[in-house]
Amino acid sequence: MGIGLTALDETYREEIHQVLDRLRSAAPVHEDTELGRIIVTRHDDVRGLLRNRDWGVDPRKSTPDSYIRLITGTSTEEDLADYQPSMLFLDDPDHKRLRALVSQAFNPRAIEDMRARTEEITAALLDEVVDRDEIDFIADFAGPLPTLVIADMLGVALEDRDDFKRWSDDLIFGFDPMRDEETSARIEVSGDAMRAYFDATIAARRANPADDLISDLIRAQESDDGLSDAEIMSMCTLLLIAGNVTTTDLVGNGLYALLTNPDQLAKLQANPELIENAVEEMLRFDSPVTDSGRIPFSDSEIGGCPIKKGRSATTSLAAANHDPSVYPNPHRFDIEREDTHHQSFGGGIHMCLGAPLARLEAQIGINAFLARFPNVRVSDTPGKRRHLPSFRGFETLPVRL
Ligand code: HEM
Repeated sequence: MGIGLTALDETYREEIHQVLDRLRSAAPVHEDTELGRIIVTRHDDVRGLLRNRDWGVDPRKSTPDSYIRLITGTSTEEDLADYQPSMLFLDDPDHKRLRALVSQAFNPRAIEDMRARTEEITAALLDEVVDRDEIDFIADFAGPLPTLVIADMLGVALEDRDDFKRWSDDLIFGFDPMRDEETSARIEVSGDAMRAYFDATIAARRANPADDLISDLIRAQESDDGLSDAEIMSMCTLLLIAGNVTTTDLVGNGLYALLTNPDQLAKLQANPELIENAVEEMLRFDSPVTDSGRIPFSDSEIGGCPIKKGRSATTSLAAANHDPSVYPNPHRFDIEREDTHHQSFGGGIHMCLGAPLARLEAQIGINAFLARFPNVRVSDTPGKRRHLPSFRGFETLPVRL
C-alpha cells in the first residue's frame, strides 16, 4: 500500500476510518513492503505492542531499509554516525535516565501550576481576534497557543515565538518518509537556526540561572547526572516539536468535531464542565498522532504473525481508537461517551510525557474560545488537512465568529 496508508494520500486524509476499517478487517497485521513496515490496526494488538518490553524504539536496532530508519533519516551508515536521538527514539537505560530528568516538570501538580499562565495566554490570543468576522482557527489560535505555553516553560522570550513556531512546523516534516529535497533543505535550515538559538540560551542560563526548564536541565548536568550538552539540546528540540503541532491538532480537530456535530456543541455549551470528557473523546475520535512504532529486540509475533527481529512495526493509534470490538458505534462523536480510554498518547515507557499539558491546553483553549465566540461556525471556505504522515490535523481551518 505504501503511501496509500499515510496522510500523503488524499483518500487516506479524507476518509481515514473507511481505509483503516477495511485494513483492520482484511489484514489486521499488514506488511507494507513499499515502506518497510508492518502495520497493526486492532486495538488489543496496538495496546499490547506499545507496552511490550521485548520491543523498543531505537532505529539503530532496526534494518537499514525499514520505515523507522526512513523517518529518522538514518537509512545509511553515514547518517547513523551523527545521529543524536531524543528519548522518543532511545531504549532504556538511556531513555529512563533522560525521561527522569524532565518528568518532574510534567507531573500533574506542575501542570496544574501552568493553568493560570495558560489561561492568560489564551485570553490574550482571543483579544487579538475579537474584532474579526472570520479567522483561520489554526494560524490565529490553535497554532500559537501551544508554542507560547512551551516557550514559557522552557524560558524562551515571547518575542521569539514566531521563529519557534516556524522551526517546529518545519522540523516535524522530518516524519515525512517521502520528503523532497526542498523540504529536507528547509528542515536543515530551521534545525541549524534552532540549535544556534538553544546553544545561546543554554549558555545564557548557565551564566544566569532562572526558574525554567532549561535552567533545571543545566542544574541536573552540574549535579552529575551525566547529561551532555547534546542531550540538553535534543531534549529542548523534542519538547518543542512533540508539544506543538500535536496540541494544535487536538484543539483544531476538536473544534472541527464540535462544529460538524452541532448537537454535541450545544451540549458542551450548555454544560462546559463536560470539557474533560469531551477532550478525551476528541483525542479518541480524531487522533492528532495517528501512528507510533516499535521494533522487536528478537524474533517475535503479533496476533499470531511471526515478525523478525529488527523489523519496523507501525501501531495505528487512529485504527485502535475506532476498533468496533472495543468502542460501540466508534465513528460517532459523543462527548458523553462512558468509556473514553484511547491510545492517542501511546503507551508503556514512551507514553506521552506531555499528555497532562496537552489536556490542560485543550480544555482551557476550547472552552474559552466557545465562551468568547458562542456563535462560531465553519466558514464557506473549507479547511485543508495537512499532508504529513503520522500526524493528523488542519493546515488551515477558516471559521466565522
Ligand atoms: C494532543 C497532544 C499530544 C499528542 C496526541 C501526543 C502524542 C504522543 C505520542 C503518540 C507519543 C509516543 C508514545 C509511544 O510511542 O508510546 C508521544 C511521546 C512524547 N510526547 Fe507527546 N503528544 C502530545 C502533546 C505533547 C506535549 C504538549 C508534550 C510536551 C511539551 C509532549 C511531549 C512528548 C514527549 C517528550 C514524548 C516522548 C516520551 C518518551 O519517549 O518517553 N507531547 N506523544
